[in-house]
Amino acid sequence: MKYLFEDLKDAVVIVTGSGRGIGKAIAELFAEYGSKVVITDIDEATAKATAEEIAGKGGQTLSYTCDVAKMESVESMVNDVVAKWGKIDVLVNNAGITMDGMFLRMKSDQWQRVIDINLTGTYNCTFAVVQHMRKTKKGAIVNISSIAAHGNPGQANYSASKAGVIGFTKALGKELAPFGIRVNAVAPGFVQTAMTDKIPEKLREQMLAAIPMRRPGQPIDIARVVLFLASELSSYITAAVIDVNGGIAGL
Ligand SMILES: NC(=O)c1ccc[n+]([C@@H]2O[C@H](COP(=O)([O-])OP(=O)(O)OC[C@H]3O[C@@H](n4cnc5c(N)ncnc54)[C@H](O)[C@@H]3O)[C@@H](O)[C@H]2O)c1
Repeated sequence: MKYLFEDLKDAVVIVTGSGRGIGKAIAELFAEYGSKVVITDIDEATAKATAEEIAGKGGQTLSYTCDVAKMESVESMVNDVVAKWGKIDVLVNNAGITMDGMFLRMKSDQWQRVIDINLTGTYNCTFAVVQHMRKTKKGAIVNISSIAAHGNPGQANYSASKAGVIGFTKALGKELAPFGIRVNAVAPGFVQTAMTDKIPEKLREQMLAAIPMRRPGQPIDIARVVLFLASELSSYITAAVIDVNGGIAGL
């Protein structure tokens, strides 16, 4: 490979939850390297706006309103992408939410919604996409987990969902390796987005103070690692999880 990420040129890449935040940065970076990027988000307005922004800079995009928690919504998006662009090379399972609360007061819908989007959503998108990747015997799937997989008080639902994503990644990486499909995960620490903006200020300050690199992560810090895991540069890496957290001890 002569140029960095050369193999990603014209690759068809689906990024879930890419209307804003980390997903948007991932989609923008793929587009910079010439990938055909599918912007999907439950929020129609941000999905459209991001796709238009990327197209305005000369990028090739499609945009969909898609709820990853609903298999029908995912299948219809995936089938339409294949009808239009013929294949899927990369899937980034980025869509995710938090609904924090101490466990003793956690309602069952607070538990279920987070599991449905973060974990079942990852299953839904992967299942739909793998049906196509197995035909070409080629593909890369990158799942966005979290440092919270190691257990954060007040995030039993979120931590369980993100630990689930790691187990899923490791099992599937091994299972799909003979089919030429690599499956890896990125586990970000604290990244400055709308998700972390809603953390109460005092707690946010404590979290920031615990980062050895003394700065929050930015969406681009995560996007660069996702591109690495999607490209041939990581051709012998599968079933792996990469921590991207400014030095907070991983487990
Ligand atoms: N920000 C952080 O510090 C941090 C740390 C670790 C992991 N993560 C993970 O990174 C991913 C992106 O987080 P972010 O910080 O950019 O958050 P964000 O809230 O800024 O963006 C999440 C995006 O996902 C979309 N989304 C929510 N539910 C959806 C659904 N059902 N179907 C499709 N799209 C949906 C939202 O509309 C939004 O555009 C998430 O999986 C999150 O758990 C974030």
